[in-house]
Amino acid sequence: MKIKAIIMAAGQGTRMRSKLPKVLHPLLGQPLIQYSLKTATRVTGETPVVVIGHGGEAVRQALGEQADTVVQAEQLGTGHAVQQAAKLLQGNVDLVLVVAADMPLLTEQTLGRLVETQKSNQGPLTLLTLIADQPRGFGRIVRDAQQNVQAIVEEAQATPEQLAVKELNAGAYCFRSDWLWEVLLRIPLSPNGEYYLTDLVEIAVSEGFPVQAVCLEEPSEAIGINTQVHLAEATMLLQARINQDWMLAGVTMIDPATTYIEPTVILGEDTVIWPNTHLRGSTRIGVGCEIGPNTIIRNTTLGDRCRVFASVLESAEVEDGVDIGPFAHLRKGAHLAAGVHMGNFGEVKNSYLGPGTKMGHFSYIGDATIASDVNIGAGTITCNYDGKNKHPTIIEEGVFIGSDTMLVAPVKIGEGARTGAGSVVTKDIPPYTLAVGVPARAIRKLEK
Ligand code: UD1
Ligand code: CA
Repeated sequence: MKIKAIIMAAGQGTRMRSKLPKVLHPLLGQPLIQYSLKTATRVTGETPVVVIGHGGEAVRQALGEQADTVVQAEQLGTGHAVQQAAKLLQGNVDLVLVVAADMPLLTEQTLGRLVETQKSNQGPLTLLTLIADQPRGFGRIVRDAQQNVQAIVEEAQATPEQLAVKELNAGAYCFRSDWLWEVLLRIPLSPNGEYYLTDLVEIAVSEGFPVQAVCLEEPSEAIGINTQVHLAEATMLLQARINQDWMLAGVTMIDPATTYIEPTVILGEDTVIWPNTHLRGSTRIGVGCEIGPNTIIRNTTLGDRCRVFASVLESAEVEDGVDIGPFAHLRKGAHLAAGVHMGNFGEVKNSYLGPGTKMGHFSYIGDATIASDVNIGAGTITCNYDGKNKHPTIIEEGVFIGSDTMLVAPVKIGEGARTGAGSVVTKDIPPYTLAVGVPARAIRKLEK
């Protein structure tokens, strides 16, 4: 059985009060539409069709190859939106799953249940409902005395009696394709000038078909994003879900409420996350690490048993047993090998620090390649930029860089060499040599 999803994303999202199209607002690092897109793709096993309109070009670009798009030039309602997909889907699929792009909390299980119910339904459609005290402007489900679904009534058209109904339309549907396309053309124009997809329920019932409803077990899954307030609500709920999954997978969280982990992040067992920690993008963290408090890690890989305390790590690679912080900053291309110690107020950019190297206190290391077991003294700076170009610094194994050394790049410090405190190194230092002063001069050879 072939199933394709239609994701409705043409609406303006006026109530967001934002220049950015609603479905592109980031939710835990991903454009809002990515959630419905991923869920729909997993449930159907097919590339979804996204109906675009307002901000359509930007939405299409954000989607890339992940979806086919159809344009709804004028937003004449949800029924009209679905109709735009006829040219791609009519005659090509058995079932059509319809969801809105602004409902990021709907799970794969829920939409799967909707599809499964429709597969065994004698009638042409199944819809998703929820029971809630707060109607949030949702359509009301009208049932007859035998509890059969009769209609969905939009809030604007509902009678006081219907307004009191607690069963609401979540806005996700599964249709039999051979029925859908023809009846879409028969939706009457509503009093506010839109073609309501929800009118298909009444049409099916009038044709004598049963309409199935799947009721949400967790009503919060139906939260739709119409305002910035809803976006924040969804962020909190989604974050709670992510954190719960990681805790069940063996991660310790001291305070889940202030632990922010994007859905793209991967964590190992027995890792402890302290409060106010933000783990973002393609970050991977190994087992037995201790992260935070007050730490931001983005697009960074950490090995096992690392400790990161009150620091910022961006686009870096950190191997096993590394200890970082407080107040350290790893920038793009920083690579710390196993057992590196990086203490307070250090910055490393586009540099490799070899196994066991220590950099304890306020240093800047940029465009450097540093071998193993090097000691970087307090206040060491690689002067890598001459105002026009960046230059490399090479430090070989076992070097001891004295406190407050300036390494004026390009420069190379040979194996086992030392620099005196406060030296300004402008020329290469040969292996096993002590250099001191401004500019630094080799003053004696050192024992191997
Ligand atoms: C819709 C349902 C309502 C349900 C609610 C759940 C209708 C008529 N009503 O109301 O019963 O309780 O969802 O969230 O369907 N869109 C288009 N093109 C359009 C109009 C809308 O693509 O011409 C898209 C919007 O971008 C949005 C989705 O369809 O993603 C839902 O549209 P919206 O206007 O928000 O419908 P609701 O009033 O929320
Ligand atoms: Ca809506």
